[in-house]
Amino acid sequence: MMDLEIPDKTHDESRQGEALVLEPAAGKNNGRKLYIESYGCAMNFSDSEIVASILAEQGFETTADHNLADVIFINTCSIRENAEQRVRNRLKEFTVAKVRNPGLVVGVLGCMAERLKSKFLEEEKLVDVVVGPDAYRNLPELIDQVDSGQKAVNVLLSREETYADISPVRLNSNGINAFVSIMRGCDNMCSFCVVPFTRGRERSRDPKSIVAECTDLFNKGYREVTLLGQNVDSYKWKQPHPTLSKGEGSDEPEAKEVLSFGEDLGEATTNFANLLELVALINPDLRVRFSTSHPKDITDDVLYTINRYENICNYIHLPVQSGNSRILDMMNRTYDREWYINRIDAIRRIIPDCAISTDVITGFCTETDEEHHDTVTMMDYVKYDFAYMFKYSERPGTLAAKRYADDIPEEVKQKRLAQIVAKQQEYSFYRMQARIGKVEKVLIEGYSKKSDKDYCGRSDQNAMVIFPVGDNYKPGEYVNVLIERSTSATLIGVVVD
Ligand code: 5AD
Ligand code: SF4
Repeated sequence: MMDLEIPDKTHDESRQGEALVLEPAAGKNNGRKLYIESYGCAMNFSDSEIVASILAEQGFETTADHNLADVIFINTCSIRENAEQRVRNRLKEFTVAKVRNPGLVVGVLGCMAERLKSKFLEEEKLVDVVVGPDAYRNLPELIDQVDSGQKAVNVLLSREETYADISPVRLNSNGINAFVSIMRGCDNMCSFCVVPFTRGRERSRDPKSIVAECTDLFNKGYREVTLLGQNVDSYKWKQPHPTLSKGEGSDEPEAKEVLSFGEDLGEATTNFANLLELVALINPDLRVRFSTSHPKDITDDVLYTINRYENICNYIHLPVQSGNSRILDMMNRTYDREWYINRIDAIRRIIPDCAISTDVITGFCTETDEEHHDTVTMMDYVKYDFAYMFKYSERPGTLAAKRYADDIPEEVKQKRLAQIVAKQQEYSFYRMQARIGKVEKVLIEGYSKKSDKDYCGRSDQNAMVIFPVGDNYKPGEYVNVLIERSTSATLIGVVVD
């Protein structure tokens, strides 16, 4: 059964199963074609770009048609039962291709590979290679192993791997927005969540390599980066602190080396607020977004940094999961209702006009109607701009699966979910309506899905804005759009500069 959710870019339903296409590295064509498709969160899509980059170095060309492929990879998600089911159904569709071409290599990557390990090979006979998210550098050897007639598995997790030195390929992106991974793994152990088991311990990537990647993206014409991590607020890098030097806040079209990584400050720590600032300073025309924040870790320092830089977008994804303190405790979220409200109040105080979105789980173990009602009243309090809403799905191996019975009947989970989905629709509409008559700064992403007479792009607050195509502006540029009307998901207006 499908979860109901209101999509945005971090877990975009329309991108689920999307295939990645790129050329082989110059002069290295090995005559083999790779087909790779991805499921789940933005981190998985970002990882597929790393995988494609590693294999392009080996001479692989990618194809968008799995029937033409010599290697099929599917980058998987384990977050809920239905995400795994989707992958298993998709694998069945590759059976025909395998019968037609017995030399075809079929590989499973990502979270499901990590969770099931070699069991995957027993359960799905079609699969030749199983590779966890920290083992992608080993892919060329694993493919060789399969070529020599064996099955291959590498699901080792690492405490260091951040793929910092691998520049991801972005060939089928729109050339305007890119995801940049700043950390991997998660140390939080929320009791419902499989991520700490599938993606391992939390580790941060060297800020120097993050700034270099974002600068390179800007110089190639990209105008928006989304910094990705399971819990960006616990980003931490203990090395000489990068300091700001020449060209601070440069508004030249070409971003020069605006940062130097000075020794003079000694062994300081770069935290998330520092990192945000470093990326914002690359160029005022580079928009900076980030996901996901954790209510226990988001600091006022981060909020002040967002407010200080015009190009750090006023949009925070702050998963609440539940509005009830007893359930939050059972979820091991390490904050309670009052703490979460305190963080919301801080956002409202420090960043006027900040959009806030959230994740909610309904029907967690032992949740009563009254406790569910606390989630509803939290939604009334915050009036979220967007929400991703899910029924609790027990995941093997998690703390909740070990400690608590999954005792809320399916119909009750469904009823509670339907109630909050309806409520969220009201608040999304309310937030959209409040923009009518305002002028939004929009980064144009391309033609709207419905018509090539309209462009679409996002506002600072991450709302999708649709407006007529014109001669004086094009994708990759900013325009001011006067909002005239809205649906619950889209703002519609006209360009006013
Ligand atoms: N069941 C339902 N939803 C879950 N999520 C994570 N694990 C589960 C689960 N076992 C949701 C949380 C998280 C989002 C990425 O997915 O809301 O924030
Ligand atoms: Fe999962 Fe919690 Fe980590 Fe998010 S913070 S990935 S919900 S364990």
